[in-house]
Amino acid sequence: MPATTMDQLVSLCKRRGFIFQNADIYGGLQGVYDFGPLGVELKNNLKAAWWRSMVYERDDVEGLDAAILTHRKVLHYSGHEATFSDPLTDCKRCKQRFRADHIKDGKCPECGSTDLTEPRMFNMMFKTAVGPIEGGDNFAYLRPETAQAIFTQFKNVVDATARKAPFGIAQIGKSFRNEITPRNFIFRVREFEQMELEFFVKPGTDMEWLETWKADRIDWWIDQGLDKEKLHVHKIAKEDLAHYSKATYDLEYQFPHGLEELEGIADRTDYDLGNHTRYQDELEITAHVHENKEAEGKLALFDDEAKKWYVPWVIEPSAGVERGVLAVLTEAYAEETLPNGETRTLLKLKKHLAPVKVAVIPLKRNNAEIVKLAANIKAALMKTGVGRIMLENSGNIGKAYRRHDEIGTPICITIDFESIEKQPASVTIRNRDTMAQQRVAVSDLPAYITDFFR
Ligand code: GAP
Repeated sequence: MPATTMDQLVSLCKRRGFIFQNADIYGGLQGVYDFGPLGVELKNNLKAAWWRSMVYERDDVEGLDAAILTHRKVLHYSGHEATFSDPLTDCKRCKQRFRADHIKDGKCPECGSTDLTEPRMFNMMFKTAVGPIEGGDNFAYLRPETAQAIFTQFKNVVDATARKAPFGIAQIGKSFRNEITPRNFIFRVREFEQMELEFFVKPGTDMEWLETWKADRIDWWIDQGLDKEKLHVHKIAKEDLAHYSKATYDLEYQFPHGLEELEGIADRTDYDLGNHTRYQDELEITAHVHENKEAEGKLALFDDEAKKWYVPWVIEPSAGVERGVLAVLTEAYAEETLPNGETRTLLKLKKHLAPVKVAVIPLKRNNAEIVKLAANIKAALMKTGVGRIMLENSGNIGKAYRRHDEIGTPICITIDFESIEKQPASVTIRNRDTMAQQRVAVSDLPAYITDFFR
């Protein structure tokens, strides 16, 4: 099958209501997208799968949902004020701006001119005024990563939960970056969500944990439907590491526009906890393990065996939700030629990610008895808790199947004349992937659906 193109995905996402350009009617806000009726379901399902695997299925991770507005000092001591920058260059001929590190052969990607300005550093954090008086120091940042609040709340979480290393704090939420050139649909945007885990470990065990998390994260993405062959691990060269990192793996995926980063798995050392602790100004951290008694109450843990306070090191798997959505859509998109020569477009999404789990379709939309039975079936299936059950009363069964293939609905249930005329009542179940149809008794439906989505 030919590789999925970005045009196919953009068109499907708009046509069926997954993803829209933000402020479309005003010409669009560049690098900002809105998730439509199906997009919000897909995104929520992906986030729920991450939360389940990170928090519920483990016994060593707690959750957090911190504010987006971030105190200036947090991002000063984290190093972001000084270093969270990209090199910016202008084309003197066409006046377009680009990231200097994305330019090939010294040529403007827009017009081909080589007359470019010297690169200058551009800080990517968004600032916003706090309170009624603008200007001066009355501002906060919109967080550029969710991680920092995990570090600044580290002590509160440890005090509330009595955790010892190794343990983690997980968070899903919005991040903002004033990207110079947002591009490739939802791949590089200015407002996005991250799913981040900060996993605190004893110094010296970090490299082992880095490998463990790398393997875990690959497995998780395969569970979301990604083809192992399209995933690639790229070890970041020393000179390209982020300011806080000792070692980082980029987990890359073969997106329609190329092999690019889906998730980063970084060894952040004690850089962040160390810096925020150092800010507290009472504690000099020299080596990574320190004995200062004053560490009590700081961003440190007590080692019961060594009887010392120490700053834990951090392993951070950090994934972008939008890039995850783009990857699962890329993987799931398929066009099949049917025996009659027609083309069927479908999304072979994993069942747990499908925005609509079951479409209940009355064969005749004006037949009160059929529609009533369909509504009753929907109500009964809602109780299974498998997710969204949709009453699809469009009146055209062929169109309904096509639409639900295209949005990835795993099961369609059709209520026909036989359903109301013959006892015990039965319906037709159609499978998205195989298109196989089978007759199932209405009374068996809840068990069938529960079992199917288990
Ligand atoms: N806390 C670490 C951190 O933020 P990162 O590599 O800058 O590391 C982590 O970002 C993930 O966030 C990336 O792997 C990517 O999936 C996502 N991400 C980063 N910038 C993005 C952007 N402009 N648009 C969409 N997703 C982005």
